[in-house]
Amino acid sequence: MFQSELDIYTHSVSDTNVENNGFRPIQYLGSKLRLVKEISEIVESNKTSNLVCDLFSGSGVVSHFLANKNAVISLDIQYYSTVISSALINGRKFSKEEITSFIKEATDNAIFSDLQFMYEPLTSLEESLLKSKLASDDDKLKFASFVENCSVYSYLKSNNLFPDTENIVLTALKKFEERFKAATELSRKTSYCSLYYGGVYFSFRQSIMIDALLFKINELKSIDKPKYSILLASLLSTLSEIVATVGKQFAQPMKLTDKNNKPKKLLASRSVRDRNYDVVTIFTKWLNEYSSNCFQQPTNKSITSDYKYFLDNCKENIGCFYADPPYTIDHYSRFYHILESIALYDYPELATMNKSNVGNVIMKGLYRVDRHQSLFCVPSQVKGAFTDLFEGASKFNCPLLLSYSPFEENTTHRPRLLSIDEIISLANKYYESVEVIEIKQHQHRKLNQAKNNTEALKHGEVMILCKQTKN
Ligand SMILES: C[S@@+](CC[C@H](N)C(=O)[O-])C[C@H]1O[C@@H](n2cnc3c(N)ncnc32)[C@H](O)[C@@H]1O
Repeated sequence: MFQSELDIYTHSVSDTNVENNGFRPIQYLGSKLRLVKEISEIVESNKTSNLVCDLFSGSGVVSHFLANKNAVISLDIQYYSTVISSALINGRKFSKEEITSFIKEATDNAIFSDLQFMYEPLTSLEESLLKSKLASDDDKLKFASFVENCSVYSYLKSNNLFPDTENIVLTALKKFEERFKAATELSRKTSYCSLYYGGVYFSFRQSIMIDALLFKINELKSIDKPKYSILLASLLSTLSEIVATVGKQFAQPMKLTDKNNKPKKLLASRSVRDRNYDVVTIFTKWLNEYSSNCFQQPTNKSITSDYKYFLDNCKENIGCFYADPPYTIDHYSRFYHILESIALYDYPELATMNKSNVGNVIMKGLYRVDRHQSLFCVPSQVKGAFTDLFEGASKFNCPLLLSYSPFEENTTHRPRLLSIDEIISLANKYYESVEVIEIKQHQHRKLNQAKNNTEALKHGEVMILCKQTKN
C-alpha cells in the first residue's frame, strides 16, 4: 500500500499558533500563499536562530508569514518584490485621514491637470469607444484596433510611421503629440505609465491617475522609506488587480481578435470591465489592506540582490533559509515586467523585434530591454545555479528548506528543468541530510527515498529539507 511505504509524520496545522492567515498582495504565478502554514511549521521546528531568510521572495507572502515569529530577510532580484516585501514586513500603517490627504495632494495639482490635458485626445477616444459597451462586432473590432495601435511609446519611437493605424487613433496620437511637446519637462516626465502602457494594459484614464500617484509616491523615496514602500506596494497591487490581461499577468496585452480577425466576445467584456475599474477606489482599498496586515518592524530587511551575491557576502547569523526559485524556462520577469518598471520609475528602453517588410518594431508586450534572465530558467545553467545555492547556503550551517512544485497550477504543465532526484544529488554534496516532504491536505509527510519520483509527486507540493552541512 502506498501509505505504508511512506515514513509519515504528520503535524495537523490546527495544532499551530499562527497569527495570520496570509495576505495576497498580487496575482502571482506559483504563489506559496496556500502553503505558508506548512512552510512555517517546518521552519519553526528546524531553525537554529530567530533570523530567517526568504531567498526568492516573489510576492512576499512567505516572508510576511514568517515575520509572525521571526526577524526576516526577504530577498529577490526584482525591485518590485523588494517593495512589496518591505511594505509587508517593515511597513507603515496609514490612517483613513492620511489616505484621503495623500490622494488629494497627488491629484489636486497643476501636473495632474497637465496630464489630463495632454492625454485628453486619447482618453476621449477610448471612452467614446467604451461607451458602446462593445456591444456589436463592429464596436469590438474598432476597440481591438485602438488597443493594437494606441501605444504612445511605440508611436513616439516610430517617427510617426504607423501604416496600420486606423485614422481615428492616428489623429488622437498626433494631437496628443502636439500637446506633449508643448508641455513642461516635468509634466512630460510625469507621463510614465500613460506613455509606456496607456491604452494597452490599462485605460488612458487609469494610467494618468497611476502617474499622478506614482509621482507623489516617489517624492517620499529618500525621505520616508516605510511610507514610500507601502504606498508603492498598494499601487502595484492595484495594477495587478485592474490590468486588462488574461490571468492578470503582464506577459502580453489582451488580443481582442482571433486569427481570422473575428472579435473575441468574452475578452471584449472583460476588457470593458477592467478598464472601468476606478484606480483611486482600488488603491485606497489596498492601502487599507496593507495598513491592517503589515508588520512595522525595522529589523526586518528587504533586499534586491542576486541570491549568490547575497550568500557570498552576508554575515548575519541566519537560522533557516527558505528558497523557492523558478523551476521552468519561463522567466518571472516576463510576467511582471510592468510592476518592475513602475516600481523602478527609470524610463526603460523597450525591446524591439524584426518584422518582415517593416523592420524593427517595439514588441507588443512592451518589455524592458534589460528584463532579468534567471539562470534557474536556462537549461545549460540550471545545475550551476542550484550548486551555487546549496554551496552558498550551506556555509551558514543552518537548514535550507526548498520548495519544488512537480507541476504548476495556472500554467500549461511546463516541464521542470531538473528532476527531484537531480536536485537531491546536488544537495547531497553539501548536506548530510536531505529529506523530501510531501505537502498534502494541510499535512506534511516525509517520503522515503525510493518513492521520490513516483506518481505520488505528480499532484502534491513537495519540499526538500536540507540539514547538517558538510563543512
Ligand atoms: C517562484 S518565484 C517565488 C514565489 C514566492 N515564494 C511567492 O510565494 O510569491 C521565484 C522568484 O525568484 C526570483 N529570482 C529569479 N532569479 C533570481 C536570482 N538570481 N536571485 C534572486 N531572485 C531570483 C524571481 O524574481 C521570482 O520572484
